[in-house]
Amino acid sequence: MNQRTRGLAPEEETVTLARVTGETGGDLVLRRVGAHYEIYSNGVFLMDTRDGTSEREMVRASLAALPKGRSHARVLIGGLGVGFSAREALDHPRVSRVDVVELEPQVIAWHDDELGEAADHVHRDPRCRVYNADIVAWLAEAASAAEPVLYDVICLDTDNGPDWTVVENNDRLYEAAGIERLSRLMAPEGVLAFWSANAVDAFEGLLRDRFTSVEVVEVVVARGVPDVVYLASDPRS
Ligand SMILES: C[S@@+](CC[C@H](N)C(=O)[O-])C[C@H]1O[C@@H](n2cnc3c(N)ncnc32)[C@H](O)[C@@H]1O
Repeated sequence: MNQRTRGLAPEEETVTLARVTGETGGDLVLRRVGAHYEIYSNGVFLMDTRDGTSEREMVRASLAALPKGRSHARVLIGGLGVGFSAREALDHPRVSRVDVVELEPQVIAWHDDELGEAADHVHRDPRCRVYNADIVAWLAEAASAAEPVLYDVICLDTDNGPDWTVVENNDRLYEAAGIERLSRLMAPEGVLAFWSANAVDAFEGLLRDRFTSVEVVEVVVARGVPDVVYLASDPRS
């Protein structure tokens, strides 16, 4: 089991910009370290602005996997973080709408300040809507709508991965029932992606049970095992 460990640079000047109580009842912290920003939840490193390669790759690879000619793509992103994934989607010429669901109101608010510069204030783009909600509940409601809004690409990056969720309830995103719910929100020939700090074979098995096509993309990182992006498409009927 791995976590994102890119946020360690003790020699740089560290300033705690904010410390608040998060939605889970624990500390939510924003730090500036040198020229970069780091977010921690309950002492667990969530995300920083140093290197968003795999967070961007999750979106880029998902969009690349759409059928040729698909335009005006609609993208759903679970977890705003520092906004790298949302920025990647907004910068793609085939994307016309990006919905982001973020649990922590404070993370969203920090994007109005200096943190927002890292991804060029994604929430100010008229094509982007940032919803302050728990994506587990948000998905349940969206999937049970009589006529659900369907997404060409759904990217989930709320945790260190299926085997290490930051919030216990997030386990539900990676279970068979959660994957089923997500599949109901996919547009025809759409793509569902999950970010993980390491490969999780049991989770890959669940995806293969539900989807004909599952691709495991490894993204090399400076330290430790590669980050992993799971891409699933073509739900079994
Ligand atoms: C690792 S960061 C996302 C990184 C993002 N891909 C980026 O490019 O910066 C995870 C984010 O998901 C949020 N999150 C965690 N659990 C969530 C949930 N149940 N619903 C919505 N957002 C959640 C966290 O508050 C955090 O902002």
